[in-house]
Amino acid sequence: MSMRSTRTLGQSLMLTAFGVALVMLSTAHGADIQRGRLLYENHCVECHDDRAHYRNNRRANSLGEVHQWVIRWSTHLKLDWSGDERNDVAEYLYQRYYTPAQ
Ligand code: HEC
Repeated sequence: MSMRSTRTLGQSLMLTAFGVALVMLSTAHGADIQRGRLLYENHCVECHDDRAHYRNNRRANSLGEVHQWVIRWSTHLKLDWSGDERNDVAEYLYQRYYTPAQ
């Protein structure tokens, strides 16, 4: 009985450590990429459903420019995103579509 509860405690400690590691990973660049992805998928993919959209006819060339587009579109759609949320989406898009193939 006591061994069993010890193992359970060990398992939950490992899960906690795993959760902490995930949080640290996702904030490593000062932006929450995961939140950026969710916001983008919820609000923007009706028009941006394909990588080709960014590849073939790309207007932005830097993180700063991507950020300007995020501001433009989130304002246009009246999403009322905070600075942090715009940052997260810009960082997500930049990493996913604007950096060399990964
Ligand atoms: C109504 C359709 C539509 C929606 C919704 C939309 N976009 Fe766009 N987006 C476009 C079009 C079309 C362009 C091409 C530039 C232009 O004509 O304005 C574009 C361009 C962009 C670009 C520049 C891409 C490049 O060429 O480098 C970014 C970044 C972008 N949008 C982000 C977003 C984000 C973030 C959202 C959600 C807040 C969003 N868009 C929602 C249609 C849309």
